[in-house]
Amino acid sequence: MSAEFSKKKLFIETLGCAMNVRDSEHIIAELDDEYETTNQIGEADLILINTCSVRERPVHKLFSEVGGFEKVKKPGAKIGVCGCTASHLGSDVFKRAPYVDFVLGARNVSKIKTAVKTPKFVSVDINHDESEYAFGEFRTSPYKSYVNIMIGCDKKCTYCIVPHTRGDELSIPKDIILNEIKKATNNGAKEIFLLGQNVNNYGKRFSSSNGQKIDFSDLLNLISQIDGVERIRFTSPHPLHMDDKFLREFSLNPKICKSMHMPLQSGSTAILKAMKRGYTKEWFLDRASKLRALCPDVSISTDIIVGFPGESEADFEDTMDVLEKVRFEQVFSFKYSTRPLTPAATMPNQIDDSIAGARLTRLQSRHNEILDEIVASKIGQIYDVYFEELRADGMIAGRTDNNFLVQAKGSEELLGKFAKVQITQPRRMVLNGQII
Ligand code: 5AD
Ligand code: SF4
Repeated sequence: MSAEFSKKKLFIETLGCAMNVRDSEHIIAELDDEYETTNQIGEADLILINTCSVRERPVHKLFSEVGGFEKVKKPGAKIGVCGCTASHLGSDVFKRAPYVDFVLGARNVSKIKTAVKTPKFVSVDINHDESEYAFGEFRTSPYKSYVNIMIGCDKKCTYCIVPHTRGDELSIPKDIILNEIKKATNNGAKEIFLLGQNVNNYGKRFSSSNGQKIDFSDLLNLISQIDGVERIRFTSPHPLHMDDKFLREFSLNPKICKSMHMPLQSGSTAILKAMKRGYTKEWFLDRASKLRALCPDVSISTDIIVGFPGESEADFEDTMDVLEKVRFEQVFSFKYSTRPLTPAATMPNQIDDSIAGARLTRLQSRHNEILDEIVASKIGQIYDVYFEELRADGMIAGRTDNNFLVQAKGSEELLGKFAKVQITQPRRMVLNGQII
């Protein structure tokens, strides 16, 4: 019997951001000696949920999901709760879901083998240092590789739970990052997706004091020189650290995809101050217009929170004003959600849910109108598309350099390749086109 044949089965569900996706890849790699993945939960020997806690809804989802796992799992199968919610709930997870076998916080992924073997194991130390840990290799996509460049976050945005789930910020040494990227490109990946909570603050602190002096712009430049790297993306940069050097490297380096995430959060300087974001409305507008001037093809995406404590109509109008001025290509917008351990949770003037809901609807409908105008202007345009996904009915999908999702008729042999596509029917979420 081959070793492969005798492997146990692992079912893993990932909620939340790209960092969680990468953590799940690390978990799969660490367990690879003993487990292979399955998407059939009923045949799994180990069921894992890798959680997000940035808003309240995914936390509820966690408990409804594990309740469902308990009902359908085969006898003897173990259930583990990993990730950000695991970090802040710790052993409280057992109180709400006693059938859970272990709890493993974000930043503790390297302990997964011990967790699986130890009854009621809990490890949620947010200062655990995995910044130099050599994780095994596993990648969900052969075409695009996620690469962590830092862990944790030193910002203390007053609404955000992440500093309590992922701990202080530590940059990963550049040689580890460059080697990982070389391995990924040797395996055929052409696109590298760099991950961190504050990528453009890279290089501020390392865990070993080997005197590296490097910032994010330098790192991008080094990565762009690696053979086989054709596209570099990253998330998330912070508007505060968008200095001229960074905007220049972004604009002039042809390997860097012209799509920038600029999380605004609020357009009101007073609310930004209460959020401890460190920039003003004017700074944000200045950086966005500088970026558009340097880089006419850039698409700018953003995150916006409405209904932060104390947000007045006038504050919200400031957010709408930034929306009009920047004309973001993509907006991820959320109603403020009270999170445990955060300063905003106890601020006075919490906003009524119906007011926040109405603001969210207004923001989203106005953005839809803007987006309709933006995508209408794409008819007839020709883009280089990197195809990554086979879809139903003989269609394939991929992304333009500036991050629009494009769909065209085509088959498997185009996966992992670039082709020119002329846009025929643009929609909000996907631009339909023809390969030319
Ligand atoms: N409520 C609503 N949205 C939040 N985010 C982070 N914390 C909260 C919260 N408490 C949003 C921010 C962040 C994105 C990942 O999630 O917009 O950029
Ligand atoms: Fe949270 Fe702010 Fe850190 Fe982003 S920068 S993870 S919003 S604390």
